[in-house]
Amino acid sequence: MYRTNTCGELRVEHCGTEVILAGWVQRIRDLGAMTFIDLRDRYGITQLVTDEKTDAGIREQAATLGREFVIQVKGKVRERSSKNKQLPTGDIEVEISAIKVLSPSILPPFTIQNDTDGGDDLRMKYRYLDLRRPAVQQNLFLRARIAQATRNYLSEKGFIEVETPVMIKSTPEGARDFVVPSRMNPGEFYALPQSPQIFKQLLMVAGFDKYFQIVKCFRDEDLRADRQPEFTQIDCEMSFVEQEDVLNTFEGLTRHLLLEILGVETGAFPRLSYGGAMENYGSDKPDIRFGMKIVDLTSSARGKGFPVFDGAEYVGGICAEGCGEYTRKQLDELTEWIKRPQIGARGLIYLKMNENGTIRSSIDKYFNSEELKDLAFHFRARAGDLILVIPGEREKTLTALGNLRLEMGNRLGLRPKGTFQPLWVVDFPLLEWNEENGRWSAMHHPFTSPKPEDIPLLDSDPGKVRANAYDLVINGVEIGGGSVRIFDAALQSAMFKVLGFTPEQAEAQFGFLMNAFKYGAPPHAGIAFGFDRLVSMFAGLDSIRDVIAFPKNNSGRDVMNDSPSPISEEQLKELFLTIQQPPK
Ligand code: AMO
Repeated sequence: MYRTNTCGELRVEHCGTEVILAGWVQRIRDLGAMTFIDLRDRYGITQLVTDEKTDAGIREQAATLGREFVIQVKGKVRERSSKNKQLPTGDIEVEISAIKVLSPSILPPFTIQNDTDGGDDLRMKYRYLDLRRPAVQQNLFLRARIAQATRNYLSEKGFIEVETPVMIKSTPEGARDFVVPSRMNPGEFYALPQSPQIFKQLLMVAGFDKYFQIVKCFRDEDLRADRQPEFTQIDCEMSFVEQEDVLNTFEGLTRHLLLEILGVETGAFPRLSYGGAMENYGSDKPDIRFGMKIVDLTSSARGKGFPVFDGAEYVGGICAEGCGEYTRKQLDELTEWIKRPQIGARGLIYLKMNENGTIRSSIDKYFNSEELKDLAFHFRARAGDLILVIPGEREKTLTALGNLRLEMGNRLGLRPKGTFQPLWVVDFPLLEWNEENGRWSAMHHPFTSPKPEDIPLLDSDPGKVRANAYDLVINGVEIGGGSVRIFDAALQSAMFKVLGFTPEQAEAQFGFLMNAFKYGAPPHAGIAFGFDRLVSMFAGLDSIRDVIAFPKNNSGRDVMNDSPSPISEEQLKELFLTIQQPPK
């Protein structure tokens, strides 16, 4: 028997019992007459002790131990003279009567404790050591609990978990595919799924009615804190349902998880149209934990002789409560912030609401005090507030204001961790104009159904067509997205045509799906949650890397095993592949 107890288990009531523990040496304190060893495993830390009564051989052995040695010890539990209230096992210690080194350790590159001295790169290189740290382990325990609770909830609601293939034919979802060459079919490639989209729709054609899968997806796209090249979805599809049924089911799942995992109760999720979200928050994933809504000033701001406003398609602003004391320096800094290429606004105009009822602004030359008051009235601004205004092209300006709103929200502490405000964003446009290719592309994916009343616009004004598509947003993060699907082969063909596919291209890429639809496809709809994003949101973390056991870095590399890496000439040969230009 390797152990009788774990390192997190022993309490005062165990005093006097003989135990065997096994784990990693976290810390050794040699106080001369006494030596204390902290022994760590997944469950906790237990203090081991040798003193002058301990056998000399064992004391000698204890002196040879180092950090991260794996040891097994035998001993008697006793009450500590000075207790450690920080540790659940802090009332006891184990008097060592035998030690066995199961596995020695060389000196680890950083200390294995929550406040480690290891930098990001070092911890990624030695991820297996980083994963020993309790704080990192907690994230993965949380991940497992959320996965389990999701499985239980969906299974109870009649969803069947079905595995779909990982080597598939390319499915367009907006990103690039990772591809896998086939040795047996020279010159041909599988793609790794960007999502199981087509397969789950085929499962509906097959009559599975309610499907789910916690599934790996792969996308070759630029990486950010909330994007990994391989990530996990809670993927779902339902038959004989409308948008409302999907929203209700997955609102139910989200509320259940928030309550069961975090003990957080949430009311009914508000719904915002895509248009409304853009207009009020400058984002299709608004953080609605705070107000500071965008106000359209276009008609009041133009025509007062200020060329910057007069020449702008749109003028909008936000009101930051209590920021009226901002100094010149702070305002300059904010102006620089919104001029960065990521935000891309050309300038920032301010109105400071003074305590005496007057307004100081950067446009005093063009607006008299009554006109300034009129602008401020749109915000219901009060003394001590700061109004920030951006003019420009409508969509770009709204997005810039949306970013500025989040920044001011951060500065004012309006986005605290541990509060959750979910909402649904609905009525997305079906298509978006792709400047690069000079054609329309699907905003969600090509299988998304247009709103029936908008179908006639498909030919005449495709940009106006709204989709039966929806996103779940929590605290400004897109957690999930889905849509009602097209289940009619003729409408699906029309959609491919709008997207610029010739009938032959559509047949070559999606023939099997369109063919399946000829054999009686039920109306169906679905959704997928980004599981990593959901877990990091629950954990209060900013990056999804922290909730993934072995993540990639921002260049898509696994620095621990140094992948991706070249393959041998032999492998290339048997795949009939030649590298045109060896990478640097
Ligand atoms: P979508 O492309 O919106 O929809 O993806 C669903 C959710 O997956 C998460 N996500 C990601 N998470 C981490 N890293 C990434 N690179 C990444 N990309 C996406 C997001 C997103 O909301 N098949 C459709 C779903 C459907 O229509 O049913 C789909 O994949 O949280």
